[in-house]
Amino acid sequence: MPGPTADLFTDEALQQPAGREQIGEQSYVLRGYALPWVERLLPELRAVLAQSPFRQMVTPGGFTMSAALSSCGALGWTTDRTSYRYTTIDPTRQQPWPQLPATLRELAVMAAAHAGFDGFKPDACLINRYVPGAKMSLHQDKNERCYTAPVVSVSLGLPAMFLFGGHERSDKTQKVSLFHGDVVVWGGVDRLRFHGVMPINEGLHAVMGPQRINLTFRTAG
Ligand code: SIN
Ligand code: FE2
Repeated sequence: MPGPTADLFTDEALQQPAGREQIGEQSYVLRGYALPWVERLLPELRAVLAQSPFRQMVTPGGFTMSAALSSCGALGWTTDRTSYRYTTIDPTRQQPWPQLPATLRELAVMAAAHAGFDGFKPDACLINRYVPGAKMSLHQDKNERCYTAPVVSVSLGLPAMFLFGGHERSDKTQKVSLFHGDVVVWGGVDRLRFHGVMPINEGLHAVMGPQRINLTFRTAG
């Protein structure tokens, strides 16, 4: 006969791999998934940023994005007054984007698999830096050549309120708090869902200082 503790072990949450929170049919937040990787990935990230530093980009609409951007991998996402697009060349330096470092790639591939997307082959890693007050308006990731691969998003530093919407800009959004080391993966039927980030609150993170850095891995080409 089931005792009072039996429910604890039949809870749906326990049937999920550890720390996996489902936020859509094929979308998950992997709580703290990147934490064991941080020490190894920060030197890689520093080396990438020494080559291709953060810069503030302008959108085709003429707005300067509040998040500063850089990229690594074969393709880097950029925007200017003419379009949003992926390029093989960092337009600031007129050189190829830095290569996608091994630890970053491994983390992205393993996180994707943990969320049900085996065989992820990222060729683009967008690096967003948010200082307090910076945000990312609701948008879809749709500059990639095909949408069969998921988006893998790694959060570092100050917390953020992530907005996860539907397939229409006007659809209701879920608010999901993201902390240092959390990874969000969305793909499949959810691949083109609108998402964004509310303005980051003031704060000082013990490892990352007064900023949030987000890495988004995609197969772009
Ligand atoms: C993005 O959608 O490019 C960034 C998402 C985030 O910063 O969490
Ligand atoms: Fe995005």
